[in-house]
Amino acid sequence: MRNQTVLVTGGTSGIGLSVAIYLKYLGYTVYVTSRNPERYDLKGLEKTFIMQNNFKVPKKILSNLDVILNEINFVKLDITASQSIDELVTKIESEVNMVDILINNVGFSTFSSIEENDYDLVKAMFDTNIVGPIHLIQKVLPKMRENKSGRIINITSMSGYQALPFMGIYAATKAAIMRMSEALYLECKHFNIKISSLVLGTFKTNFNSNMIALNQSKPQKITSLMDDPTPVPNNSPYLPLAKKVWIFTESFFSEGTIPLKAAKKTFRIIKKKNPKINYQSSRFSEAVLNSLRKFGSTQFFLKLLGWFFKS
Ligand SMILES: NC(=O)c1ccc[n+]([C@@H]2O[C@H](COP(=O)([O-])OP(=O)(O)OC[C@H]3O[C@@H](n4cnc5c(N)ncnc54)[C@H](OP(=O)(O)O)[C@@H]3O)[C@@H](O)[C@H]2O)c1
Repeated sequence: MRNQTVLVTGGTSGIGLSVAIYLKYLGYTVYVTSRNPERYDLKGLEKTFIMQNNFKVPKKILSNLDVILNEINFVKLDITASQSIDELVTKIESEVNMVDILINNVGFSTFSSIEENDYDLVKAMFDTNIVGPIHLIQKVLPKMRENKSGRIINITSMSGYQALPFMGIYAATKAAIMRMSEALYLECKHFNIKISSLVLGTFKTNFNSNMIALNQSKPQKITSLMDDPTPVPNNSPYLPLAKKVWIFTESFFSEGTIPLKAAKKTFRIIKKKNPKINYQSSRFSEAVLNSLRKFGSTQFFLKLLGWFFKS
């Protein structure tokens, strides 16, 4: 019997890289996408994986890491270009017949008020975080329907339930992917295709440093800001609030959970006979907050956050 094939988008760092390595270790055929796969070498990816997992990689994975990485298919994908998506799915289907499991993982955010956000970046966030993933789903579904099997896991965020200031557009894309997944779940049930969203708390990845800041002459990654601690313009009317939110965000990310935890959760979802629509992987404190958010009123939570960030 052929191994099941998994396609993970955005797998050169963080959640995607850990999911890819863990599933390859477990024997799946794994395709991983990057905008620029040629920029990465296996030693560098090995280092990223070990560091992001706080050097706590189980021995059985660590001792075979070079072999595991060598057996992963790193492929090029621009998730914002429909032609790139079409070409990739055609390539995979010609090599291994079908994508059995799609992990829609790629995603990024700016750190900016809604008012000051960049129009093109707003569109890029929607294209990358929701429009592209939808097109990928459209492309893998026909084979899944034909075979009456398949799984799609959409990686989303607690921001999909509750937006934080300066990450409002990102939160909108994550809420969108969760609502879309609910419709997809019902549409695909009769074809034995299982749909879930994995809602993440904060994880120790490059997500925070890959966030785009808008306080320079042109948008750039937060990592490249040398001496400017708050990624909004110095003359921004939002600066006092931004400073507080940024300190809070940074402290949360620096204590983030290791991505292997999300990878293990992903595998557990894959193994479920009848997976639910939503799963969560987070710290205990985040799970408590999320439950409060889900069962409390929006107004109450906005009051709580307003009080927390008050000047
Ligand atoms: N880390 C967290 O705390 C957290 C919390 C909640 C949800 N999430 C979600 O988890 C998913 C993975 O994030 P991560 O934390 O693993 O982040 P990461 O370490 O920054 O990895 C993101 C991956 O996506 C690709 N990528 C980054 N920016 C991109 C862009 N603008 N357009 C296309 N591809 C891009 C990168 O690949 P290339 O650069 O090689 O193309 C990289 O492999 C995202 O959907 C994110 O929203 C993360």
